[in-house]
Amino acid sequence: MSEIAARRWETYALTYDTEAPRGVPCYQHLHAEIVRRLAFPKEAPLRVVDLGGGGGRLLERILVRFPNASAVWVDSSPVMRVVAGRRLARFSRRVTYVEGDMEGGWQRAVPDGCDAVVSSIAIHHLADEGKQELYRRVHQVLRPGGMIAVADEVLGGDWPTQAEHLQRWDQHTRRQSAARRVSPHWLALWQVFCDRVLPDPEHNPTERWTPAARQVEWLREIGFPDAQVWWEHGMWAVFGGRR
Ligand SMILES: C[S@@+](CC[C@H](N)C(=O)[O-])C[C@H]1O[C@@H](n2cnc3c(N)ncnc32)[C@H](O)[C@@H]1O
Repeated sequence: MSEIAARRWETYALTYDTEAPRGVPCYQHLHAEIVRRLAFPKEAPLRVVDLGGGGGRLLERILVRFPNASAVWVDSSPVMRVVAGRRLARFSRRVTYVEGDMEGGWQRAVPDGCDAVVSSIAIHHLADEGKQELYRRVHQVLRPGGMIAVADEVLGGDWPTQAEHLQRWDQHTRRQSAARRVSPHWLALWQVFCDRVLPDPEHNPTERWTPAARQVEWLREIGFPDAQVWWEHGMWAVFGGRR
């Protein structure tokens, strides 16, 4: 993770965790869609890894849906580690925490492999080479029949179209703010983000948006033959496949 990305997260990890469900368009749907796509029996003793797990909201859903599953939370943010630890406290014996870079190292926490690797709104921080390398690592740790399921910000068209998606996100944020569904702090942080990203969305150092279809092509080449985009709307997508 770059220095700039790391510092940005530490300043607003807590705010993000509290407000993202209302401030980020599609947030709840992204998590629900990942859980829906994990095609395993309810009672299966799954081993699941969440890359960029943040405050643990996605893992909470997965651990409820699969009562015999255990999970590895991976995230580089110490603040998110605390938030996730609180949220997932009731599952404490089922969760291992790896505070570190999702690009590597976390595999040591699953020496016997795992059944699912999930990720929500995190992999877009990696450049294209980093994404491909990560998908190769995921393929290596997944047991046969295991699944990758990713929900993320993607490049939803050409760059002018991406700017339009961001404008729509901006309108969403302002509507949520007017309805007092997000705080003035969230609005201010959003404004800083827009000022930085909107003038030149293609070259910002922290959001490395890639089309969902291209990522699915990589997954197929790497060894997920049925990989596909399961859902896409604007600059949001859920995709993945089975090893
Ligand atoms: C937008 S938040 C999403 C958090 C959570 N997955 C969710 O859906 O609420 C992105 C998360 O990815 C983490 N992150 C970003 N780049 C990372 C990296 N290279 N390695 C590990 N974590 C990273 C951040 O610390 C942050 O918690």
